[in-house]
Amino acid sequence: MTKMMRLKKDVKEKRELVNITMDRFLPRKDEYPKIIHKAMRYSLFAGGKRIRPYLTITTYQLFGHMDRKILPVAAAIELIHTYSLIHDDLPDIDDDDIRRGKPACHKEFGEDIALLAGDALIMEAFKILLAVEVRPKFKNKLIKEFAEAIGSSGLIAGQVVDIESENKSISPTTLDYIHINKTAKLITSAVRLGAIMAEASEDDIERITEFGKTLGLLFQITDDILDVEGSMKKMGKRTGLDAKKGKATYPKIYGLEQTKEKAQELKKKAQEIISFYGPKAEFLKKICVYIATREF
Ligand code: IPE
Ligand code: IPE
Ligand code: MG
Ligand code: MG
Ligand code: MG
Repeated sequence: MTKMMRLKKDVKEKRELVNITMDRFLPRKDEYPKIIHKAMRYSLFAGGKRIRPYLTITTYQLFGHMDRKILPVAAAIELIHTYSLIHDDLPDIDDDDIRRGKPACHKEFGEDIALLAGDALIMEAFKILLAVEVRPKFKNKLIKEFAEAIGSSGLIAGQVVDIESENKSISPTTLDYIHINKTAKLITSAVRLGAIMAEASEDDIERITEFGKTLGLLFQITDDILDVEGSMKKMGKRTGLDAKKGKATYPKIYGLEQTKEKAQELKKKAQEIISFYGPKAEFLKKICVYIATREF
């Protein structure tokens, strides 16, 4: 088996674990009022690569932990990510009608329910965090980490500037601000949470943070590239919309060639950072390639 095949097998196995964990924690789809629980589950289980929870679990394992205590944290990350996708697709934000290969949440359930399903996923994520088996001091750390990553100085900040920058000429600094906040912060938290749960040292957490930032930026740049070159069938979402909406993207500011070079650089940088840990970081090193060469 090649390293990439081993990685893909590991991604698949962990995806299953995350799906089972989310299913256990979420309200049943027939719980009253049914429509909201159906909508939450619809978007969550429509598909999705589960990259963020994968990063959380794999970083936790990097520091020698093989137990399942990490699973609720990983599940919470995916709930938050899915909320961000539901809201991102709403007509007032990106106005996308297809997500994870299916009609977007608001297309299936209406804008009112989609908005509320996103809200409810955030609340459920925090509820799940309360169930994580760690000492109170660590629980506070986890909750703070989450809240900061997704709040109005994190993911929401990125979304706001993304919206404000539509059809404007923006600077490279603003472009990075958008990408780091809307995408890289949650990915950074995904790896940081794995390290925090593993009670890694401050030096390790710092190194992992740098890795997460680099990988997160790479992730959004690849998403920008795929919006230009990718296929809707593979992606499970429409492509070509960024240009139509005048979105601030790497290809828009730097052109496709330079964007691809930047992606290669970031991939190399992320790999260099994680190589510090040697062979035990095999999966995290390979995931840099997986993210840079993904087709969906
Ligand atoms: C899409 O994220 C949104 C971005 C931050 C670019 P993913 O590409 O991880 O989407 P899913 O979870 O696999 O659907
Ligand atoms: C994703 O940015 C950022 C968040 C959802 C927070 P995009 O708007 O580029 O994501 P896609 O392309 O719709 O998945
Ligand atoms: Mg968007
Ligand atoms: Mg979008
Ligand atoms: Mg996109």
